[in-house]
Amino acid sequence: MASPKIEISHVDKYYRKAAASGTRFGRRGKQHGTVQALRDANLTVAEGEFVSLIGPSGCGKTTLLKCLDGLVPYDAGEVRVSGKPVTGPGRDRAFVFQQFGLFPWRTVMGNVTLPLEAAGKSKSEREEIAWKYIRMVGLESFANLHPHELSGGMQQRVGIARALAVDPEILLMDEPFGALDAQTRELMQIELLRIWDKTRKTVVFVTHSVDEALFLSRKIAIMSAHPGTINEVIDVPFAYPRTEGDLKRDPVFADMRYDIWNKLLPGQTVES
Ligand SMILES: Nc1ncnc2c1ncn2[C@@H]1O[C@H](COP(=O)(O)OP(=O)(O)OP(=O)(O)O)[C@@H](O)[C@H]1O
Ligand SMILES: [Mg+2]
Repeated sequence: MASPKIEISHVDKYYRKAAASGTRFGRRGKQHGTVQALRDANLTVAEGEFVSLIGPSGCGKTTLLKCLDGLVPYDAGEVRVSGKPVTGPGRDRAFVFQQFGLFPWRTVMGNVTLPLEAAGKSKSEREEIAWKYIRMVGLESFANLHPHELSGGMQQRVGIARALAVDPEILLMDEPFGALDAQTRELMQIELLRIWDKTRKTVVFVTHSVDEALFLSRKIAIMSAHPGTINEVIDVPFAYPRTEGDLKRDPVFADMRYDIWNKLLPGQTVES
């Protein structure tokens, strides 16, 4: 059997607390406080899988994605991608940020070609690749516009095109649709599933929404709060392609939704 694409084993992550000057945590160094963001986090993701991470605010979802991307170091355990320990960012992984993370002074084309510049591609190569993904997300008429001239949904599509342009094996998506209105969000979910169907990337998708997780993913990892750990991984049995309307009428959907709600601890902020 092929080894998993992603293996997160017994991962702990601590952050240093910012020290307020004049307190016993100040200046001297040794007594800096720490906050444990992850405790014994475990998750395995197969190649081509679509997994959602769901859990309360502050439970460590972004931290887990950052550990996977190599943006922050972890303190114990191991994160492996394609069998190798993660020691920093790599071209096999791309991150899609909640707040789009676009460069305002660059056009759509300029934003999508940026990571390809870093990869040392020639101008014509960069533009050819960028066009492919700009077309894939339906922005070919907007390639010369700047981010402020686009709607939120269009900006997020630029973020997705930019992530796909480096042809990563893994897409790490941190609440990418959290800032969008309900209708745009639904359209983006359909768009993402269409792209996933076409490219079969491995996707780790963070969301606060139980419905979004159920609609998109094959598996849902439920995290508990503080310090964050993965409590349970649930299989989502619906076949692809999925239609949100059909899914919501399915009694299994309603049961799973109820079940996941109950598994999330009380008093936390998640959307239905
Ligand atoms: N750079 C940092 N320095 C110190 N503490 C941090 C840092 N980043 C995150 N934390 C702490 O780590 C914990 C987990 O944060 P994280 O951002 O991973 O949560 P999250 O699940 O993504 O939350 P949200 O759903 O609100 O985005 C929180 O207690 C947070 O305060
Ligand atoms: Mg977060």
